[in-house]
Amino acid sequence: MSALFSPIKLRSLALPNRIMVAPMCQYSAENGEVNDWHFTHINTLALSGAAMFCIEATHVEAIGRITPGCLGLWNDATEAALKPILASVRKHSRIAVAMQLAHAGRKGSSHTPWDGGQQIPLADGGWQTEGPSVVPHKDGELAPLALDALGLKRVRDAFVAAAKRAERLGLDALELHSAHGYLLHQFLSPISNKRTDQYGGSLQNRMRYPLEVFDAIRAAFPEQKPIGVKVSATDWVEGGWDLAQTIEFAKELKKRGVDWIDASSGGVSPLQKIPLAPGYQVPFAQGIKAATGVTTMAVGLITQANHAEDIVASGKADMVALARGMLYDPRWGWHAAAELGGQVEAPPQYWRSQPSNQKALFGATMFGTR
Ligand SMILES: Cc1cc2nc3c(=O)[nH]c(=O)nc-3n(C[C@H](O)[C@H](O)[C@H](O)COP(=O)(O)O)c2cc1C
Repeated sequence: MSALFSPIKLRSLALPNRIMVAPMCQYSAENGEVNDWHFTHINTLALSGAAMFCIEATHVEAIGRITPGCLGLWNDATEAALKPILASVRKHSRIAVAMQLAHAGRKGSSHTPWDGGQQIPLADGGWQTEGPSVVPHKDGELAPLALDALGLKRVRDAFVAAAKRAERLGLDALELHSAHGYLLHQFLSPISNKRTDQYGGSLQNRMRYPLEVFDAIRAAFPEQKPIGVKVSATDWVEGGWDLAQTIEFAKELKKRGVDWIDASSGGVSPLQKIPLAPGYQVPFAQGIKAATGVTTMAVGLITQANHAEDIVASGKADMVALARGMLYDPRWGWHAAAELGGQVEAPPQYWRSQPSNQKALFGATMFGTR
């Protein structure tokens, strides 16, 4: 019996296995709106065999986008654009669909990665970003403006409005992006947060705004639907955010009903030194789970089925999220199920692909002809 292919319940969302397609920016939206690229991308990965697909970082206001091609959910047009994609996914797959709600803060106004990913100057169509403090991400960059009380309220309200739109779209879950050096992580980390008000200084104060945003979206999203949080468990910089603080954050989130913590790392400082290796972030999921009992997802360089199986079977994490591995092999879940003796749902159009030595891979199927 495969642990990876055993069911799990998040509030009333029943998932048949422990695999999520991690959120992945496509940098291909126009005015924050999805288009035919996203239609193909999302529908393809909806057939991956994962139990849940998380839509890429979806920004709650235009200045909160990382790049001009980033996805948004801040007006009727961005909401309407998602409808046909979701309708198609629902027609052909029973995968749960989550959405990651995000705000880039001082890391907004960037070129797409394939254009170098650096800050876009105002003169070249960039925009003035906002963050916790007037501290640029990189030396020499245009610094963000510090969010004042009105700005904090505006952004929090934008998260709430996006959560309501997500519910109207029928999404099954939300993931709050509090990782990778974006706005909420900027509040958590002493590297980017130099505030002297109630949102800066002590750990309690630095956690305050991300927790306020969590509370606000939790109150706006149906009670039976789960909300997770993606964290960077360390900045990989001496004196920055670390696992001990992440555990305190997870405890606070647990009190507020968080349904999972997706444990990533880094992104707040160009000085980070990351020891990349398969599963290098698994110990963070493990540490958070051990200290708090919160459901965790391990993410980062998990590409092999037996590695994923071991992470879940050994209790290091409750679920795994895969990003690059899913792009490389969009039927990753099928192949993992075949290897581990699990079962996945496949659309009848593809049933005939079931390998002859894997008669139960797609469950009860039949294919008659005359
Ligand atoms: C193309 C691409 C886009 C990404 N966009 C996001 C994103 O929107 N939100 C996020 O939290 N992480 C994003 N990530 C990070 C992944 O979700 C994941 O945490 C990371 O890639 C490590 O997992 P992997 O080794 O399976 O790729 C992105 C990664 C890739 C490769």
